[in-house]
Amino acid sequence: MCGIVGYIGQNDTKEILLNGLEKLEYRGYDSAGIAMLNDNGINLFKVKGRIAALRQRVDSSVHATMGIGHTRWATHGVPSEENAHPHQSASGRFTLVHNGVIENYQDIKREYLQAVDFVSETDTEVIVQLVEQFFAETNDTAKSFRKAMSLLKGSYAIGLIDNEDHDTLYVAKNKSPLLVGLGDGFNVVASDAMATLKETNQYLEIHDQEIVLVNRNFVEVQNLNGKVLERQPFTTKIDASDIEKGTYSHFMLKEIDEQPFVMRKIIHEYQTENNELKLDANVRQAMKVCDRIYIIAAGTSYHAGLVGKEFIEKLAHIPVEVHIASEFSYNMPLLSEKPLFIFISQSGETADSRAVLVKIKELGHPALTITNVPGSTLSREADYTLNLYAGPEIAVASTKAYTAQLAVLAILAVDTAKAKGLDLDFDPLQELAIVANAMEVLTDQKEAIEDLVREYLGTTRNAFFIGRSTDYHVCMEGALKLKEISYIQAEGFAGGELKHGTIALIEEGTPVIALASQDNVNYSIRGNVQEVVARGANALVISMKGLEQDTDAFVIPHVHELLTPLVSVVPLQLLAYYAALHRDCDVDKPRNLAKSVTVE
Ligand code: F6R
Repeated sequence: MCGIVGYIGQNDTKEILLNGLEKLEYRGYDSAGIAMLNDNGINLFKVKGRIAALRQRVDSSVHATMGIGHTRWATHGVPSEENAHPHQSASGRFTLVHNGVIENYQDIKREYLQAVDFVSETDTEVIVQLVEQFFAETNDTAKSFRKAMSLLKGSYAIGLIDNEDHDTLYVAKNKSPLLVGLGDGFNVVASDAMATLKETNQYLEIHDQEIVLVNRNFVEVQNLNGKVLERQPFTTKIDASDIEKGTYSHFMLKEIDEQPFVMRKIIHEYQTENNELKLDANVRQAMKVCDRIYIIAAGTSYHAGLVGKEFIEKLAHIPVEVHIASEFSYNMPLLSEKPLFIFISQSGETADSRAVLVKIKELGHPALTITNVPGSTLSREADYTLNLYAGPEIAVASTKAYTAQLAVLAILAVDTAKAKGLDLDFDPLQELAIVANAMEVLTDQKEAIEDLVREYLGTTRNAFFIGRSTDYHVCMEGALKLKEISYIQAEGFAGGELKHGTIALIEEGTPVIALASQDNVNYSIRGNVQEVVARGANALVISMKGLEQDTDAFVIPHVHELLTPLVSVVPLQLLAYYAALHRDCDVDKPRNLAKSVTVE
């Protein structure tokens, strides 16, 4: 969470910083700021609110060729101008932006900074004050910066400007993502390459506990002892057009529509020329030898894990446990003798998941990350990675990454089953091609879904999603989508569990969305629908072709029963989208959220 960007070169830095921050806004958007250094010193602009407000605030007459910027998701201190970054040291000599959480900031304050008057409530301000404190002793910015970094506990990606040095941006990283982009006569810094794709496609990966001195014409990577380190650049594969909305009004709608293409891309990437499954042999071996799989994930990725468990258990016959990342470390189950950990994460940066990864690596267990961002922290630090190939997902609410996660999990399950010599009558690539076509049929029915929103979700304050078996897991995802972007209080329930308490909440007109895509529970879920209707609920049944009844409001095309979640989730995504749109909510940037949750 939070995004940082920096530029040092020959051109005016204003637009580069503001454009970069706009691309990083998905990481947090409660306040923002930029600092630019020129002959008049530091020019600092901060606002509570979005980058659009910052744009208004920035003095267009300021010209500078180096600067840093920040878009914030508040952790310590409310969203306000005082707490917005950049922060300055007491004398004003040093100016700093930070993404992450400094766990020992109170200790640092007590031990080193008793005499300092702090102007913000943030953990970040201690860093810049600490640099200034050490500078008073060393008179050397790089040395002071390294010393300050060596005292910090927690996560950070930092950009620092020293007013007296017009040739260097100082950056540092630990656990939070940070890249240095290389140009001709300029260099850039960003939390995510997306922010600076207009400037360059050449990047240096920065490792934890490293600092970088970024000059216009060179960059120098150092460890915290000042040792200079060699680093080869890499070329990012992200296409600048992938991160534009094009003719769409929202990224979320674009990403929902992209799902059939993502399915086809996955089929292509995981297929050999002979139409066999193509998977890293090491992943295959790890799956084959493990005796139990532990899936670790958060939010939508956790919901994908619940469906993934079914794929792996039913197809590959390996027992699977699915755990919420933020709970796992505190309530670790007894592990089997040969566990394999699978981390599912769109961003590959989720701090809760990373904390588990660090822990299980200490215990010596193997880990596979399934992610949309191959160079991400979870991907680098796990033993193996499977890529989702979904393309950048910008809307905060995850859609195409969820269905891509399911597709890759299905492929993984079948590949493992084959490697174990199990007999299967299921070709995942062929079935996913059918899924892609079904998704296309659904994304063509936007008007029908918008009508359902008018009829069922109009002005409601709450909504229930019910399903049984696999459908229950999709209901949890449908409810999360609806609540996070439309702010309608929504919950996904197992149909049979309602009568054990939750049914007390059903009143006249309460919307209940029921999924019926599984033959073996079709009869029983319809019984549950009758139970809520008898108590006044406004029931909307979404069923699969072949299982439908006359009163069903929406029917999805028939696909293989195992893969129904990839298809049944699409109308739920669209229901959430139109519900949010009709309530004038900010669909792509819902309140209080951020796309990449890099704090625990
Ligand atoms: C909801 C959503 C979140 C993420 C969660 C984990 O739409 O996107 O619930 O799924 O924050 O993020 P990743 O998958 O990046 O680890």
